[in-house]
Amino acid sequence: MPLFRPIHHTFAPHVNAGYVLRTLALLLKPWKWREGPERETLRAALARQYDADVSLFASGREALVALFRSLKSPDHAEVIVQAYTCVVVPNAMLAAGMHPVYADVEAETLNLDPADVERRLTPRTRAVICQHTFGIPADTHKLRALCDRYGLLLIEDCAHILPDDQGPATIGKDGDFLLLSFGRDKAISGITGGAILSRRPAVSVQLRAEEGAATALSLFRIKRLLLYPLVYAVARPLYGIGLGKALLILARAIGALVPILTSAEKNGTMSPTLHTLPNACAALALAELHRLKAINDHRRRLTALYLTETYKLQATGYRLSIPKAVHPDLPLQKFPLFVKDAERIRRALKQKNIHLQDGWSGCVICPPGSAMEHECYVPGSDPAAEAAAGQILSLPTHPTMTEKLASELVRELSGILDRQKK
Ligand SMILES: Cc1ncc(COP(=O)(O)O)c(C=O)c1O
Repeated sequence: MPLFRPIHHTFAPHVNAGYVLRTLALLLKPWKWREGPERETLRAALARQYDADVSLFASGREALVALFRSLKSPDHAEVIVQAYTCVVVPNAMLAAGMHPVYADVEAETLNLDPADVERRLTPRTRAVICQHTFGIPADTHKLRALCDRYGLLLIEDCAHILPDDQGPATIGKDGDFLLLSFGRDKAISGITGGAILSRRPAVSVQLRAEEGAATALSLFRIKRLLLYPLVYAVARPLYGIGLGKALLILARAIGALVPILTSAEKNGTMSPTLHTLPNACAALALAELHRLKAINDHRRRLTALYLTETYKLQATGYRLSIPKAVHPDLPLQKFPLFVKDAERIRRALKQKNIHLQDGWSGCVICPPGSAMEHECYVPGSDPAAEAAAGQILSLPTHPTMTEKLASELVRELSGILDRQKK
């Protein structure tokens, strides 16, 4: 029997009743959509919390373009980035005239392998961007030391995790710059939005100029963004009976929803035009920042639950593993498992109204189908990333995923693994 309530990664994962009410209140005040005090309140709160100058843009990818342009590097300067990343990250480098160079990941962290970073350095290398994949901390101490030795800038991509006062303590401490995303499934969500937190005053000046020159999104686009939580709040409970999917297809067809990734972006191009963070999205992100500890504590509880359940499954002979760096105190954005035949398991779970396709499986430049050659990735060059991407099965930890649903997911998963054993 399929579950009545879907388990998912991407169906408006942050949208609970409070989020819907906040969005409805904003929809009724179109004069606050573009401009308003919340954007400055968000800026001040982030500056205080992470001790940096803050520039805000309409998405994380745009914030990255602004940063890369602000570095004023020679054309085709190189940035080391990990294989197993989102296509919008190398796109942003290319849009700013820089060149992505991929380094491999460590299977136990899914993050940059510092030794491989060192092997990929050239005289053109300008910066290293490290991703805290799914909330697992990258080894920023080693990367900081390496960057200092070679005179490079260190950018921490915090799209998947924002630390709170319980940690993880190393995240956000060593970077010259931090990238934040307020996208729909990120650490906190404003539906869209992004920030660069800068600790280099000269670059902060350039970033401010980029933000000053950015244009506002149209009111029509902001309205479409604000419809997203409402459309999903209606469609989600109807997903098990097919009506939810029909509603989403209809909403997309009539242009009521803004796609997260355009086909041009998937093919490796990104517009260099930057946009300001709409005040409405800043207001939603600010409300989530105020709840960061509660959101992270929820993620910690689910991380601990999945970890315990995985150990039990391992003890009874199931063949599945976890990256070694995962521990119960991490507020993971999603919980990574390595299994045999991950794609087949995802397909079987889909029959049960469990949707674990999150765009981060079967690809090193994610989502699957992104134009690797355009992104300068040479297949075979990062074997650990390719192996991890092939075996990964991620379990949701987002704010609307309950502990009860997590236990149901583990039960369904062990049923499928049982059949695999036979
Ligand atoms: C690791 C990583 N960095 C940066 C981004 C960019 O964020 P945004 O969607 O806000 O452009 C994303 C997501 O798309 C991501 O997964």
